[in-house]
Amino acid sequence: HAEHREQWGSRAGFLMAAIGSAVGLGNIWRFPYVAYQNGGGAFLIPYLVALLTAGIPLLIMEYTLGHKYRATPPTAFLRLSRPAQAIGWWQVMICFVIAAYYAVIIAWSIMYTGFSFDKAWGDDPETFLFSDFLQASETPTVDLSFVGNILIPLLAVWIITLGVLAIGVRGGIERANKIFIPLLVVLFGVLVIRAITLPGATDGLNAFFEPDWSAITDGSVWVAAYGQIFFSLSIGFGIMITYSSYLRRRSDLSGSAMVAGFANSSFELLAGIGVFATIGFMAAQAGVPVNELATSGIGLAFVAFPEIISNMPGGEIFGVLFFASLTIAGLTSLISIVQVLIGSVADRTGLRRVPAVLIVGGLTALVSILLFPTTGGVHLLDVVDHFINQYGIVVAALVAVIVVSWVLRQLKPLEQHANATSAIKLGPLWRITLGVITPIMLGWMMWDSLQAELAENYEGYSDSFLLGAGWGVALGALVLGVLLSLVPWKRGRQVGDEAAE
Ligand code: PHE
Ligand code: NA
Repeated sequence: HAEHREQWGSRAGFLMAAIGSAVGLGNIWRFPYVAYQNGGGAFLIPYLVALLTAGIPLLIMEYTLGHKYRATPPTAFLRLSRPAQAIGWWQVMICFVIAAYYAVIIAWSIMYTGFSFDKAWGDDPETFLFSDFLQASETPTVDLSFVGNILIPLLAVWIITLGVLAIGVRGGIERANKIFIPLLVVLFGVLVIRAITLPGATDGLNAFFEPDWSAITDGSVWVAAYGQIFFSLSIGFGIMITYSSYLRRRSDLSGSAMVAGFANSSFELLAGIGVFATIGFMAAQAGVPVNELATSGIGLAFVAFPEIISNMPGGEIFGVLFFASLTIAGLTSLISIVQVLIGSVADRTGLRRVPAVLIVGGLTALVSILLFPTTGGVHLLDVVDHFINQYGIVVAALVAVIVVSWVLRQLKPLEQHANATSAIKLGPLWRITLGVITPIMLGWMMWDSLQAELAENYEGYSDSFLLGAGWGVALGALVLGVLLSLVPWKRGRQVGDEAAE
């Protein structure tokens, strides 16, 4: 008698977890700058179009695949068609790579939450970050020169993450998200309110929202909009297939996808307001234009924000709110990525949850701990992040969409499956956006970034480093994925496999 597959406790619980996965570092440190750079207020149009014509349709596809086949990516794709299993394992390998370095940024955020109390970065946050905190080497090196400052919080991140996953889908993931997501909304909400009441905030908001309508006719702006949507919804590498595989039989799929998609975008918009109000304050203090201070990523969170926090009355509290928000947003995303790894191996081998967490989660944690909290680790992180996003996620998403819609012609059956239990019915519009618009935009994004890649070396890194850490890792994920699909997995107990019941 087959053991029952784990399940979410409620629809709200599933939605919290799905939103927790989507809302991550990208919402806080990526969206505000991407929007600002690509037309400001006018960017909202391509962005909304991208959400409606690719983001939500693809989200629905992933929800439906996971729900219909009740399995994590390798098994779900296997049930679709035997060779397609390789796509599932490819997605698993992408998750493995992302998990390994994503955890490290959360570790930094934890440390900076503490640093906020006494503004430990002094008056030169940039030197503090690279020299004192990261102890970054000049050039990329891969060795075991650990930096204790990062190693210790990284261990904590892995213990928390694997601890939550060991408790299970309902008791661990769902419960953690039910605490973390409301907490995040409160902390970040308070931060935004404080930000918009700072002197100079309006200048920042004006700069952020001022529409540059010419952007609408610029192809690169559209590529940026689709890119942001794909990154932000974390679609294309199996996370949502995994989470929806734990849904009950009668679950609303299209409605849930819309709720999660709009919730993620709302949080992005909120972050845009918070970040640019804060930058406006700094611009007013320093007497410089907003565009001189606007930036994204590591530079925004770990250089610009510390500087601003130092210049703000009550900056300590603001800093704690900001870095605690980054930590929580990151943790709930990391939990979802690692669940893909654990669930996938469990589904294919019949391994139980706790041993799977220990073996698969432990291996991921080990790789993360050996490679990244070192003096050369920050360079590796930077390059791996760039290449796995541009050439891992995007290509895997493109292949998955083409295989599902054109090679296996599965859109119609998936549509029927979703419609059987969903309030919002799918129709030809869904199939056209997913089968035509999504692949065109993904292909165009690929082409666009390939050209930039070939024009100059990313961040000026050496050819050999980019070849190994960039192209090598992105291609390695694909090759390993294909190899894993050729392993004659013991079928194990195949939880949730109707054929076996
Ligand atoms: N979607 C997340 C964000 O916006 C990023 C993420 C990446 C989440 C990888 C999970 C996995 O930040
Ligand atoms: Na997001």
